[in-house]
This record gives sequence, structure tokens and C-alpha cells, in this order.
Amino acid sequence: MSMVSKLLFLIISLSVYSSSYAEPDYQPLGNPAAELSESPQWNLSISTDGQGLPVGQGIASQGAKIFAIQCAGCHGPAGIGASAEPLMGEVGSLASEYPEKTVNSYWPYASSLFDYIRRAMPINAPFSLTADEVYALCAYILNSDGIISADFELNEQTLPQVTMPNRDGFIAIYPDNHSLLRTHK
Ligand code: HEC
Repeated sequence: MSMVSKLLFLIISLSVYSSSYAEPDYQPLGNPAAELSESPQWNLSISTDGQGLPVGQGIASQGAKIFAIQCAGCHGPAGIGASAEPLMGEVGSLASEYPEKTVNSYWPYASSLFDYIRRAMPINAPFSLTADEVYALCAYILNSDGIISADFELNEQTLPQVTMPNRDGFIAIYPDNHSLLRTHK
């Protein structure tokens, strides 16, 4: 090696050495998982019997107004699907030639609907809805297929009592923790 290349080698080695051993100068992103799990916003689980549902109430006509503004853009007017999947309709289609899994045709528990909407929808603004708004949206979706009547008030007591049409289309594989497995009729 010439003197110049020895010097160059030394400079490069030193700079690699110093950059790999330098203290990181970034700010850590996010929050420690323990903090998140203690935050009420993330303590959201609602069981199939309704435990964990917040106090609140809503009926279908209120939900229809919220749906038109906050949901129809993706799920289509009347929730029959657009860029996002259909939520309503197709009840009874699962055993047909063209099965369609909607909330109303497929989901076994109404309490899951509250849980899902509250934590995930609108997909561009999760956690933005109040408990009353979520109850009203559930009422609108369930009423559209006659699962509940138009004036039926959903609240933390009545929502878990709603029987979904496909409630018995599942078998429990772990009855103790309510895990469900779809079975074909
Ligand atoms: C910007 C588009 C968008 C908006 C607005 C939106 N959604 Fe969704 N929604 C989606 C997408 C995409 C999915 C599918 C997500 C997935 O499968 O992970 C979805 C899934 C769902 C599901 C689950 C459907 C299923 O069968 O699995 C429900 C229920 C739902 N949305 C309700 C709502 C409600 C109620 C609103 C209004 C408050 C709403 N969504 C607004 C895009 C949207």
C-alpha cells in the first residue's frame, strides 16, 4: 500500500469505527407496550355476553344519519358494499351457491359489532365515535335486516341479548373461552 492509500484506509476505518460506536441520536418512537395496555383506550375487550360494553344507547334512525355521513362512502349506501365490503343483506345466503359473509349473515354475536366499530371504524378515524353513536350504528345495521325492530333501543343491557341469524352456524371448540369454528350446515 502506498502512503496515500494507507492514510485513506485509516480515515475510512476510523469513520466506520466512530459511526458504528456513536450513541444513537434518534428519539424512540411510540410508547412502551405496558403503558398502552394500561391506557383505557386500549382496554377494550367486550365478551360475547356483553361484559365490557360501555354505558350508552342508540336506535336505528339515529344510526342511519351517522352511517350516511361516516360509513356509506366506503360501505355503500344502505351498507351493501362499495370499495369496502357489504355489512348488511345476504342473510341466509351462506348455504346457497353464492354465499356472502356480511355482518348480518355471518357474525354470531352482536356485541362483536360494537367492539369492531369502536376500535376500527371509520377506518381512517378509529376511536372517533362516541358510545351512543356506536350503539346507534349497530341498531341501524341490525335493523336493516330485521334482526331488531326500528324502535328497539340498543344499550349495554340489550345489545348482548340480540340473537344473530347465524348464531348456531358455529360450533364451540373450546366452550370455556367461547372460541368458535365455522361449520357447514
Ligand atoms: C375509508 C373507508 C371506510 C370507512 C369510512 C368505513 N369503513 Fe368500515 N371497513 C372499511 C374496510 C376497508 C374494511 C375491511 C377491513 C378489514 O377487513 O381489515 C371495513 C370493515 C368494516 C366492518 C367489518 C366487516 C366484516 O364483515 O368483516 C364493519 C362492521 C365496518 N367496517 C363498519 C363501519 C362503520 C359502521 C363505519 C362508519 C362509522 C365504517 N365502517 C366506515 C372501510 C371503511
